[in-house]
Amino acid sequence: MKRIGMLTSGGDCQALNAAMRGVVKTLANGKEEVEIYGFLDGYRGLIYGNFRMLTDKDFSGILTKGGTILGTSRTPFKTIQDPDPNGLNKVEAMKQNYYKLQLDCLVILGGNGTHKTANLLRKEGLNIVTLPKTIDNDLWGTDMTFGFQSAVDIATDAIDCIHTTAASHGRVFIVEVMGHKVGWLTLNAGMAGGADIILIPEIPYDINKVIEKIEDRDKKGCRFTIIAVAEGAISKEDAALPKKDYKKKMEKYPFPSVSYEVAAQIQEETGREVRVTVPGHMQRGGSPCPYDRVFASRLGSEAGKLILDNQYGFMVGYKNREIVRVPLEDVAGKLKTVDPDATIVREAKMLGICFGD
Ligand code: F6P
Repeated sequence: MKRIGMLTSGGDCQALNAAMRGVVKTLANGKEEVEIYGFLDGYRGLIYGNFRMLTDKDFSGILTKGGTILGTSRTPFKTIQDPDPNGLNKVEAMKQNYYKLQLDCLVILGGNGTHKTANLLRKEGLNIVTLPKTIDNDLWGTDMTFGFQSAVDIATDAIDCIHTTAASHGRVFIVEVMGHKVGWLTLNAGMAGGADIILIPEIPYDINKVIEKIEDRDKKGCRFTIIAVAEGAISKEDAALPKKDYKKKMEKYPFPSVSYEVAAQIQEETGREVRVTVPGHMQRGGSPCPYDRVFASRLGSEAGKLILDNQYGFMVGYKNREIVRVPLEDVAGKLKTVDPDATIVREAKMLGICFGD
């Protein structure tokens, strides 16, 4: 008999359920009987011992379902180390619940913060296998995370819709794309949606270059401009500010702020009509796209195989088109950002896309 704990942590995304289903279906093909303990609302469930026994029925019909059947929460790494309001040591509590239930392994689905905690639990002696989820695609050790392609589809649809109205009115339109501190989602959705300007955190922009591009398009008879702005985009000027000064400066704008600043600057300098659209959490919602359903199922299946082989301390990742096992200590605490010199960025520039640099 194998006893497996499972939890989803951090912001949700599409294909979390597909990945968990992949794990469980693969385990069902092993020789041993398996019991699945689903911890509710991320690490909170493991800390406070909130769990539900899951059966095959729970994993039936969930391949196409967005969100997570286990619920999730954000429990930042730094707060994991602090005791809770009642003085409870959270790391010790998680270990105790793991041992109390006599678990053989914990399957943890999450992004960057989640992986830091997962690695901490590994160092504390727990058997851990993780799966890389996030629409941001910013996890080290994998070329892709599940959720990313579904979010690219939604953000691209948003840009497509904006295209027609921008063209009719001859307006400048900003579509703000999620991605936290990285530009993968904006870069891909921007290219897929035919954006004229793409602003990402890894390439600080000069607003004058952005305005030049708009005016240049105007001279060529293009009445409208589409700008895909990553929520974490930053100007060259701001990138040079001390972090705390930058934070203070942005407090006066509604969140997400950077798009509104870019819009105000363009409107002031050019006198044009500028509009901002923020698809926001829609990018994380709804059904996973077919690619993510297959991708997450494959990753989940490999996690199942790891457990059947008693191999722990790995994240299942994707490198050079192969499913791979990446040691957790290589993943935790590292961010995968867009290299400003990457081939895809150079190609985008060749296509005439302006990055404001
Ligand atoms: O990490 C996924 C993500 O959607 C980011 O792109 C975004 O910055 C953040 O989560 C939003 O977090 P929350 O759901 O807590 O508002």
